[in-house]
Amino acid sequence: VIDIRKLYAGTGKFTYDPGFMSTAACNSSITYIDGDKGELLYRGYPIEQLAVNCDFLETCYLLLHGELPNATQKTEFVNTVTQHTMVHEQMNFFFRGFRRDAHPMAVLTGSVGALSAFYHDSLDISNPVHRDVSAIRMIAKLPTLVAMAYKYNIGQPFVYPRNDLSYSANFMRMMFANPCEEYKVNDVLVRALDRILILHADHEQNASTSTVRLSGSSGANPFACIAAGIACLWGPAHGGANEAALTMLESIGSVDKIPEFIKQVKDKNSGVKLMGFGHRVYKNYDPRAKLMRETCYEVLNELGLHDDPLFKLAMELEKIALEDDYFVSRKLYPNVDFYSGIVQRALGIPTSMFTCIFAMARTVGWIAQWNEMISDPEQKIGRPRQLFVGSPRRDVAPIDKR
Ligand code: ACO
Repeated sequence: VIDIRKLYAGTGKFTYDPGFMSTAACNSSITYIDGDKGELLYRGYPIEQLAVNCDFLETCYLLLHGELPNATQKTEFVNTVTQHTMVHEQMNFFFRGFRRDAHPMAVLTGSVGALSAFYHDSLDISNPVHRDVSAIRMIAKLPTLVAMAYKYNIGQPFVYPRNDLSYSANFMRMMFANPCEEYKVNDVLVRALDRILILHADHEQNASTSTVRLSGSSGANPFACIAAGIACLWGPAHGGANEAALTMLESIGSVDKIPEFIKQVKDKNSGVKLMGFGHRVYKNYDPRAKLMRETCYEVLNELGLHDDPLFKLAMELEKIALEDDYFVSRKLYPNVDFYSGIVQRALGIPTSMFTCIFAMARTVGWIAQWNEMISDPEQKIGRPRQLFVGSPRRDVAPIDKR
């Protein structure tokens, strides 16, 4: 690693690195990825162990505080989060300003940004207590806002949070409860959602996290920064890939059409990609994809859908691709999105909500990264340079001479 700042100090030189392919923008002690090995660690703990032994709120505590909570710390943390699950009643009116057919991500970006107008008693970013309160508020309120965006979209009344339920069970109730009936929590499905949240909780300096850090570097309040992260996540190259993978599987339709589809993928002029495959950092199996495939199996089994044609198709597609030299030579393996769409669909989550679920999970990662940046004594406003390729200096002609 070369510290370019020292190397170029006073020389007027800078590096050109579009897409930040080889530039580290910060120090971080939160998440580590070894793309060649296919390893993902949160604060040093392998994702495989966290997914099996911890729930989402324990993972949140770990990402925020650097250590897993003991039993007392966990109880305190869960109690604190659940105290903040309600949103200000005025938010109901704010929601009513949106068109019902607005994309839920548009509603989420707007409503999270608006939180800073409701919770301005925790906006002093130089005060660690304010930063903690804002972090808890966001982790607690995101499920409420996501469920509200869904209910608003389908024209049903909002379901208020119930704090005797776990984080994921409460979210599923707010999404799916029918006001006329008691909602029955299914532990297998709740556990599956919890796992989706754990697997998406952080992924070091991806586009949305970098957006949060860059926004925060100006001193903007955390609600505004997370809203910026959500806007970035909305892009199809980032948060929208699981939806694209599901659409791809549906369009392939059956196992016997796989060879024809693979032929198209290999034809560079077709523009067709195997969605849910390949990753900028992982050049091996994405460890999250393995866990997601397991979860997919558990959920489908629980729902009596063991013969789900899309799951069978996905597994066969994976098998064929992993034996094909095109994918092997390019080190293209399934990523987390390959199976997560099938799981979410089985949980009853509509495709248009997939990216909102991702945002809900990633909020803790964003806020942990934002907090790390604000606490860093070396922190400076993010201000990339540019390679100017426009017109050289010229004079303005009067309008009748242009
Ligand atoms: N299907 C077919 N070919 C692929 C795929 C794919 N999914 N991914 C990469 N390739 C090929 C490229 O065409 C390129 O081939 P070439 O060397 O013959 O030109 C080679 O593999 C290298 O690919 P790059 O595009 O250079 O890899 P990059 O790191 O820039 O892209 C990305 C990574 C964007 C994830 C890419 O693999 C992709 O588009 N995958 C499909 C979309 C997807 O699943 N995105 C989710 C990522 S995970 C997440 O965001 C949570």
